[in-house]
Amino acid sequence: MKLQLTSPLDMHLHLRQDNMLKVVAPLSSKTFSGAIIMPNTLPPISTKEQLLRYKEDILNATKGDTFTPYMTLFFKNDYSREFLESIKDEILSIKLYPAGITTNSEGGVSTIDVESLRPTLEIMSDLGIVLNIHGETDGFVMDREAEFVPIYKALAKAFPKLKIVMEHITTKASADALLEFENLYATITLHHLYITLDDVAGGMLQPHLFCKPIAKRPEDREALLELALNANPKVMFGSDSAPHPKSAKEAPGCAAGIFTAPIALQLLAQLFDKHNKLENLQAFVSNNAQKIYAITPAKKIITLEKKSFKIPSSYGNVVPFMANEEIGFVIDN
Ligand code: NCD
Ligand code: ZN
Repeated sequence: MKLQLTSPLDMHLHLRQDNMLKVVAPLSSKTFSGAIIMPNTLPPISTKEQLLRYKEDILNATKGDTFTPYMTLFFKNDYSREFLESIKDEILSIKLYPAGITTNSEGGVSTIDVESLRPTLEIMSDLGIVLNIHGETDGFVMDREAEFVPIYKALAKAFPKLKIVMEHITTKASADALLEFENLYATITLHHLYITLDDVAGGMLQPHLFCKPIAKRPEDREALLELALNANPKVMFGSDSAPHPKSAKEAPGCAAGIFTAPIALQLLAQLFDKHNKLENLQAFVSNNAQKIYAITPAKKIITLEKKSFKIPSSYGNVVPFMANEEIGFVIDN
């Protein structure tokens, strides 16, 4: 059995810099037509010059492939209207991180509420720039995302014209909030559709399944599956593929991030097939995102075949999600 996907999009991707960029970028550009590139580099992307240079590096690393890097800026609360006007055609969105919540987010925002963010968000709303949010508080790790939900709601209400994307949602609380507000959307990762906290820490600790936000309870995963498998128009695929060298994962003080880019489409096909929902995969991996972000990606046809495939033990020095496991779909291009 073969299955074709047209112009798959990854709406949340970490490509890193330098050598890591050279290893991982081609693994996305091979199968995706475009991706939203996260700005949590070192230092984070916060000037036009940095942004254009980073885009150039990505285009060089993906040369020969049809692939659009949709660039994002690291949210700062002091960006001026002039600056945002001058950069708006180069970006698709701006990503807001609570300070210190995840990898390279130390320069993020420490007070997240409507009044502190009003000046910047009003400009973004006027200019039609989408806001991506890593929605976690600094509370107890299992409650961080649910505790952030009232903030999502307050922002959605205060800025009704601003499109807000709740990034990598992991809880039923977020899934419910998403459906309450017209201007809230969400990305869902591959790994949060597959695993719960039990897979991470229920037996021997699995560093390659450790990420932010941490995987939650079975009922949370069910809520995400319900949205993704039915390709609810408010959700889109965003892998949050976040490579770290093996030495940074298999270490005391394991870095947060799961590397899924090279096997994401195969494992999505397997999941949608298992639930008899393959007809919804195209919308989840491309069409919904095209509508939400008003983009038309370059045409790229990816053929998947239902055939056994063993996920490699590593790509360069990065260990992928489900390394060495046999899966049921392979890319046939
Ligand atoms: C991401 C990374 O490593 O950049 N890590 C992660 O666990 N998801 C950052 C992020 O999206 O939180
Ligand atoms: Zn991320």
